[in-house]
Amino acid sequence: MKINRTDTPINFDVVSAKIKELNVPCIGKASIRETKRLIDNIEKETGEKFVRMEMGIPGLEASYIGVNAEVEALKSGVASIYPDIDGLPSLKNEISRFAKNFLDIDVKPSGCLPTVGSMQGAFASFLTNSRIHKEKDTTLFIDPGFPVHKHQHKVLGLKFESFDVYNYRGAKLREKLESYFQKGNIHSVLYSNPNNPSWICFTDEELKTIGELATKYNVIILEDLAYIGMDFRHDYSQPGVAPFQPTVAKYTDNYILMISSSKSFSYAGQRIGMMIISDKLFAYKSDDLLRYYSSNEYGRAMVFGTIYCLSSGTAHSAQYALAAMLKAANDGSYNFIKDVRDYGDKAKIMKKLFTDNGFKIVYDKDMEAPIADGFYFTISYPGFDGPELIEELLYYGISAISLAITGSERTEGLRACVSLVNRKQFPDLEYRLKKFKEHHAIA
Ligand SMILES: Cc1ncc(COP(=O)(O)O)c(C=O)c1O
Repeated sequence: MKINRTDTPINFDVVSAKIKELNVPCIGKASIRETKRLIDNIEKETGEKFVRMEMGIPGLEASYIGVNAEVEALKSGVASIYPDIDGLPSLKNEISRFAKNFLDIDVKPSGCLPTVGSMQGAFASFLTNSRIHKEKDTTLFIDPGFPVHKHQHKVLGLKFESFDVYNYRGAKLREKLESYFQKGNIHSVLYSNPNNPSWICFTDEELKTIGELATKYNVIILEDLAYIGMDFRHDYSQPGVAPFQPTVAKYTDNYILMISSSKSFSYAGQRIGMMIISDKLFAYKSDDLLRYYSSNEYGRAMVFGTIYCLSSGTAHSAQYALAAMLKAANDGSYNFIKDVRDYGDKAKIMKKLFTDNGFKIVYDKDMEAPIADGFYFTISYPGFDGPELIEELLYYGISAISLAITGSERTEGLRACVSLVNRKQFPDLEYRLKKFKEHHAIA
């Protein structure tokens, strides 16, 4: 039973009432958007600002290069004109250059498509990939992962399987993946790298394993690079200069890379992302596609079938923005990774505040090394499971989401996102964590 306290940093009665008002069975298992709404309500009622770590919103201003290009494009009249479904030629070229400069891979502009956020790229991929071969009807998630991808499956009525990768790093990954692939029902594998929420980063050895098995079993790898370049232990920021962001595309031709502009260019509001389909997959033919599309060629099915039906392309002006940002990054005049480094610096400080006050880092290791500092980190507190901890922390003005909704086996854990936390809030965070510790003595 919850102890009614008078000295929680946020008014106990207000928090309790607002949780009740939301009318969900368990607030700790609510969706990210529901949690956001609850905290908005508590903040409004109490006038107290939370340390908000529930939602992965970029905490930086949108790149001015993108904004200026978009304003110019709108002024020149693009708003009244339908964009090509597969994207502006100049954007397609810049995406292809970006793939070469930052991932060191060659891909033709034809397979480089803008999508309405990376979210649409994933939706379109799940939809199309589940229709390539009659017998392959299931996606495999290498978890923990971004919960919305699983919602997409539910909405589409598609099947998925998943496993938590923490115990299958390095050499153990091969056998685990093969145990799924051998069944013959997997069409795609999805993971994010760096990983949302754990911030695990796959090694080249692991990516090689994934790539080799993808080729062997004709499985498509959906590599979600929403946090491209943000493993700050390495400098991936120089175009055309090693080291490059590690990618499975080095080890198989069966890939789609999804690169969001939301975090790397702080361009979340305009809903534009990139989908990079390998040349080989773009030209791949399967007659099973004809059940749903007018062409048996994958690239045509994706563009003139799926994307046409979903949104008939991506907002015209946002494409000009992305083309301009990519051109600047490709030309070396705009270092997009330098801008986001602050996330890693903040994570380092915040993780220490948590661990100094009795919390543990759940995904604490990346292979043998300590986990890197980035956009997210994971926490737990002795004696609490994840949903309980979420609820309890609300009384202390701290919000996060439960790892239980990410496919993690570590259900005692929470995901904390650093982006929206202002450095000025660090003293508040420290005070609140100290109070939490004082109220919850560790046995
Ligand atoms: C792993 C991952 N993939 C995809 C997305 C969505 O990206 P977009 O905003 O481009 O739709 C996010 C956003 O948080 C994410 O964390």
